Amino acid sequence: MQNIAVIGTGYVGLVSGAGISDYGHNVVCADIDKTKIEQLNKGEIPIYEPGLHELVNRNVNFNRLSFTANVDEAIRNADVIFIAVGTPEGENGASDLTAVYEVARAIGENLNGYKVVCTKSTVPIGTGEKITNIIKDVSKNINEFDYVSNPEFLREGSAVKDFLWPDRVIIGASGSRAFKTMKNVYRPLYINETPIIETTVETAELIKYASNAFLSVKISYINEIANMCDEIGADVHVVSKAMGIDGRISPKFLHPGPGYGGSCFPKDTKALISMAKEMGIDLNVVSGAVVANQLQKERMAQKLLNLFDGDIKNKTIAILGLAFKAQTDDIRESPAIEIINTLNKNGALIRAFDPAANENMKKRFNDLKTFDSWEEAVKDADGVVIMTEWNEFRGLDLLKLKGLLKSPVLLDCRNILRMDDLETMGFKYDNVGRKKR
Ligand code: UGA
Repeated sequence: MQNIAVIGTGYVGLVSGAGISDYGHNVVCADIDKTKIEQLNKGEIPIYEPGLHELVNRNVNFNRLSFTANVDEAIRNADVIFIAVGTPEGENGASDLTAVYEVARAIGENLNGYKVVCTKSTVPIGTGEKITNIIKDVSKNINEFDYVSNPEFLREGSAVKDFLWPDRVIIGASGSRAFKTMKNVYRPLYINETPIIETTVETAELIKYASNAFLSVKISYINEIANMCDEIGADVHVVSKAMGIDGRISPKFLHPGPGYGGSCFPKDTKALISMAKEMGIDLNVVSGAVVANQLQKERMAQKLLNLFDGDIKNKTIAILGLAFKAQTDDIRESPAIEIINTLNKNGALIRAFDPAANENMKKRFNDLKTFDSWEEAVKDADGVVIMTEWNEFRGLDLLKLKGLLKSPVLLDCRNILRMDDLETMGFKYDNVGRKKR
């Protein structure tokens, strides 16, 4: 058992802290945000993440997990310190590392013995070296430490599962002592024979960006194929299924939709392009995926306009789903934002519903009308657009929906409804690359 401090209680920090305590270690999650820490100490989880509440409670009850606003003390008491603070998008697509460097300084000031300093936040290549130098400078080299890059691959909505049962663990470090310490942190995964890649810090840093950018490319690719399907009357689901059977391609992340969103893919693709540019390298494939993603969001808005022959003024449109994907309340870069902007610009009236993200979208669009159920949102609307693949939308009672709508017009941006049913019931509809001609 080791003493671990996780600095930053956002998605990555909180899930990692709770997950590592579940491996049997003593973990303290620290954050300068006192309100957040008070909430956590009261047993309230500040983010929406299925299974996280149970994971946190279980480990708090076993006295393996605690929360503090005293970052300095947490660092002093720890053998391993995880940096898991936010790295928002800064200027020109590069990441803003202010919070990361602040933590590095705090570690330097409180380095009271050998420690392993490990970054989980997604940071540009070369950041490990900068963090190392800050700690050395501030601590005046009095004590030893090792630096590790240990990027996280968890997805919002399935973060707990992704953390406890990862496909792989990446450990980038420069010394055997650090690898040994990290091996102990992830002991249950070593025992389970989860693939663990031991590599250099820079390689680990690049693996994270290369993975996220690849998945973004995959999504943009299938979205563009879906757009071709629209033109020729082909079914993109059959295309992606057939492609995915080929083990070299794999069926994962091959679902067409309204464009990827969230706090990672949009930011990380741009950061990778910007890093490469500084090296004199053009990432043409990733750049293409970024452009295609923006066009895909716009294409959904155009599809909606087309269903109303271009004139949506004074029409009431129900939006089902505001989060960037299901199982989260996160609306960052959500394709629903593009739809709301288009509807506002064209003089339409919006009635929206999301099972978890109503409040967050209202912070962005103050006068957005949101409702507590899909039934209320669609009542007397001239049409409906599905933006997020929540399970409750998959199982929509189409007869009831038709009865509530003023006119049966529907855009399914997630391809979750059966076209045969829509056709039998006389819906005027569209989707992403599946419409029969
Ligand atoms: C993503 C990665 O999947 C994680 O591995 C990574 O750790 C994380 O970013 C991060 O860097 O922190 P996340 O953004 O939470 O996770 O969500 P995803 O499930 O990857 O979805 C991202 C976007 O792609 C969503 O808008 C989703 O709707 C879209 N998507 C995903 C598709 O349009 N099609 C697909 O087939 C899959």
